Amino acid sequence: MNAGCRHLIRLEDMTKSQVDDLLDLSMRLKKRPASDQLAGRTVGLLFFRGSLRTRTSFESAMYQLGGNTINLTAQADFWELEERDGTVMDGKAPEHIKDAAAIMSCYVNALAIRPRPAGQAWAVDRKDGQIRAWAEHARVPVINMESALWHPLQALADVMTLRESLGELAGKRLAIVWTHSPAPATPAAVNSLLHAALRYGMQVKVAHPGGFELDSEVLSEARTLASEHGGKLESGVDLESAVRGAHVVYGRSWNSLEDYGNATLAASRRSRTTHWKIDERLLALGQDARLMHAMPVRRNLEISDEALDGPRSLVYQQAENRLHSQKALLSLLLRN
Ligand code: CP
Repeated sequence: MNAGCRHLIRLEDMTKSQVDDLLDLSMRLKKRPASDQLAGRTVGLLFFRGSLRTRTSFESAMYQLGGNTINLTAQADFWELEERDGTVMDGKAPEHIKDAAAIMSCYVNALAIRPRPAGQAWAVDRKDGQIRAWAEHARVPVINMESALWHPLQALADVMTLRESLGELAGKRLAIVWTHSPAPATPAAVNSLLHAALRYGMQVKVAHPGGFELDSEVLSEARTLASEHGGKLESGVDLESAVRGAHVVYGRSWNSLEDYGNATLAASRRSRTTHWKIDERLLALGQDARLMHAMPVRRNLEISDEALDGPRSLVYQQAENRLHSQKALLSLLLRN
């Protein structure tokens, strides 16, 4: 058994049956955590922006499998890297990703990258140029630890948590709910979850205020996945319509792609959305609904304390599953 992909940039780099195998292995590793199967293997972790869960779970995953990590943080440990091919490098970046990726491939068995989107234009950031440049030039597997468009590691943990909670996913109802935050994320986690859930035949409703529509190509692919796998997608519905009858309510704040790169317009639009919050009253509209969130989460702004700390909440289990599912991925990618 192997992961089936050379690089993991998005979850669709693996077939559904490969994801199934990975999740089965995740469950086995959750029951029996220790092993030395990756002794002598090293993964290089490059963070171009911060992380709590991804960094810690990745490091622990490698250590629990007997391997090692080397962590590098942009600006503190290394310098800006150029990603454009053929450019005259007379700007700030003293080194090209082409060279950094080739050299680092001599030292480590895989590279995991969390890029920093430029945040100026969605049309540019959605191309995921930085992570794709690493994948093009590295001679070892490249793992995406959350780019502008995709967060495949979060989606693996999300599907693992959904399966633990709901069993068979086909036909189950998932409400993805935009939540108010002064500092939203990119829609990467939601995009990856949306596609993963539809590949498992779930019925998905995405609720968001006007101006927070997901990327049109992501939605178009999602509709295709829904028709291929017997799922259903409704996007742009209101809060209560999305949650009514849902088995799982998944909260996440994401940037308006219409105002992307314009902080003033974005803040003005967000100021009209303070009621987009998940609480017990809302969750009660679901079918014994469970609550998920990729975290970090702003308490009592995105989700109430009562809901986060209550019996419906899966958020800690979901975060814990980052560890088990990443161990399975690393095992499948690196054992052979
Ligand atoms: N969900 C997630 O990726 O968390 P971090 O940003 O803390 O890594």
